Amino acid sequence: MRKKIVAGNWKMNLDYEEGLSLFSEVINMVHDEITGKQQVVVCSPFIHLHSLVQLAKGYSKISVGAQNAHQAESGAYTGEVSAKMIHSTGTEYVILGHSERRQYFGETNELLAKKTDTALKNSLKPIFCIGETLQQREANEHFNIIKQQLEEGVFHLDATQFSALVLAYEPVWAIGTGVTATSAQAQEIHLFIRNEIASKYSKEIADNTTILYGGSCNPKNAGELFAQPDIDGGLIGGASLKSRDFIDIVKTFN
Ligand code: PGA
Repeated sequence: MRKKIVAGNWKMNLDYEEGLSLFSEVINMVHDEITGKQQVVVCSPFIHLHSLVQLAKGYSKISVGAQNAHQAESGAYTGEVSAKMIHSTGTEYVILGHSERRQYFGETNELLAKKTDTALKNSLKPIFCIGETLQQREANEHFNIIKQQLEEGVFHLDATQFSALVLAYEPVWAIGTGVTATSAQAQEIHLFIRNEIASKYSKEIADNTTILYGGSCNPKNAGELFAQPDIDGGLIGGASLKSRDFIDIVKTFN
């Protein structure tokens, strides 16, 4: 079902104690201040997951997510963490295909298709990220790139599997740069994504897909972005590290 979601992506920030303390603040604020139906997801480094899940018990509006998972079920992959391990902590979501993983760790659409399969098999809900670089936008290739990322990354799924996904449109030029896509630019791509889903699966599935915007989202611009008909919330990096900013973004939906 289509939901209003604000997801925080802590990236490689916050040690164990710092993470627990930020999360506790977020929980208290969600409890006291959030009146609507929006869901909050906090995607932390692996080391926090189990403890965050324990802290979130009893708070139905808060879920926990990881930021990556390996494509194999298990085995000799020193230093990696499997989807099954993540799920065993009680974690519900996993970010896949973030542009930093694509850029710094060489993650391709083909690899991400495997990661998506393994995550779904292990009952994790992927927050699957797509988005074009500045160069691609300037060359007017952004629609083709988005289409290709969908086709090669997730359109091999059957309708039931696809329905478990959350998508996030994150233009690479807007991530961590302070430059946000205008609400019109973001809406244009979100509508494009929804239409692609409708032609691949059905209008009903497209209407039920949650599509988040990510890239320098903050309490000032969230309202206008989230008011667009095809934007169902945000994936928040920098601003998710400050409880007040993060909750003010969530409250945009109140
Ligand atoms: P940002 O990051 O909000 O700091 O731009 C968004 C993201 O990378 O998910």
